[in-house]
Amino acid sequence: MSDKATLEINGEKYEFPVVIGTEKEVAIDIKSLRSATNGIITIDPGFKNTGSCESAITFLDGEKGILRYRGYSIEELAEKAHFLEVIYLLIFGELPNKEKLDQFHADIKSHSIVDDDLKKILDAFPKSAHPMGVLSSLTSALTAFYPSSVDVASEEAMYNSITTILGKFPVIVSWTMRKKQGLPLEYGDDSLDYVENIVKMMFKSPNCEYKQNPILVNALDKLLILHGDHEQNCSTSTVRITGSSHAGLFVSLASGISALWGPLHGGANQAVLEMLEAIQADGGDTKKFMAKAKDKNDPFRLMGFGHRVYKNFDPRAKIIKVAADELLADLGIQDPILDIAKGLEKEALEDPYFVERKLYPNVDFYSGIIYRAMGIPVDMFTVMFALGRLPGWIAQWKEMRRNQEPIGRPRQLYVGETYRPFVPVDER
Ligand code: ACO
Repeated sequence: MSDKATLEINGEKYEFPVVIGTEKEVAIDIKSLRSATNGIITIDPGFKNTGSCESAITFLDGEKGILRYRGYSIEELAEKAHFLEVIYLLIFGELPNKEKLDQFHADIKSHSIVDDDLKKILDAFPKSAHPMGVLSSLTSALTAFYPSSVDVASEEAMYNSITTILGKFPVIVSWTMRKKQGLPLEYGDDSLDYVENIVKMMFKSPNCEYKQNPILVNALDKLLILHGDHEQNCSTSTVRITGSSHAGLFVSLASGISALWGPLHGGANQAVLEMLEAIQADGGDTKKFMAKAKDKNDPFRLMGFGHRVYKNFDPRAKIIKVAADELLADLGIQDPILDIAKGLEKEALEDPYFVERKLYPNVDFYSGIIYRAMGIPVDMFTVMFALGRLPGWIAQWKEMRRNQEPIGRPRQLYVGETYRPFVPVDER
């Protein structure tokens, strides 16, 4: 591989360094392009070809269907690790030993009380409010209650901000769901492990003792691991770019939550289930919806299909499909929605339109079926995604600040009017 790339414009040649990542990915470093060429920029809508940073957190190969956190494969982590270990791994770069893990958990628990006044903000939301909007607002509001230090050079201040949000975020996630359901707002139970505690906070009924269901806890643990990080996706890039202005951790996370909400990103898990329900209500004719998805005059897309990076298969979808089967069997649930999903997947995988465009089920195609089996309301699905993605966002924010990345500020190619003189209103 040559170590330089040459660009020729108007007979002038410019050389740019070629940089190679640890997984042999190749990039052309165009940092000096504008200054060297007197103002020429690149244009790349949707950043399909643009690396915004160097990162040591997550590696994915969309062609081969590989996803690794800090070098560990997603398959192995989903099978053998717990979410809390994966949180530590993503944020601090190594799997913790038992002592470090226990200390980390203890530190998170020491931050697991949320100021009771936050409930007043929650109370002001109408019951109809979408939980993602509420979650984003409450995460932002945390800044007012716990002004986060931006002294990122201090190990202690950074650690403190991280454990604070890891302690409080599950509480506000559970509050967004319980508020909507008219249930009293719970605090956590420090005797439980991280995911058990989340499950209890979400589902505990006020009139009886809560009994843990290990099947449900394990399934959620796995789902959260699968959602942990996914390198420079839309919400993560949002977190990094917000933080690049040196805005604090919590507000950067709040902006990531907003980006995740959209149906082309995290909101797809809600959209998938609504689509499957619509197909069921319509009589279950998957062919009709396949035809709609392929019709260029119809805005309908097969939700849960396609991915910006995976053009072979999404390794998370494979794991989730098996997990959905197991969970439904373990809980003794027969869900016709799962059959519709499997039928749709089979048809799409054999259909030239989807095959040619390399459209495969993504992580969200089956996750909604698992959340539904757990009794989580449809509009909470993306909130669950945010819960899983939280460590990834934190890790990326930390990396961005520690690497002292410059403020994120893309250029543009202006295509509007050229100069024209102002015309007073009575002369227009
Ligand atoms: N159904 C039907 N056609 C599709 C779909 C789909 N789900 N996804 C892509 N296509 C088609 C496009 O119409 C386009 O066709 P064309 O070449 O004939 O114009 C082609 O496939 C390429 O699609 P793009 O939109 O250019 O691909 P891009 O990489 O920009 O988008 C995305 C990826 C947003 C995920 C897209 O596949 C999509 O909208 N999928 C449905 C929503 C979804 O499931 N999102 C979750 C993604 S995973 C996540 O964020 C966790």
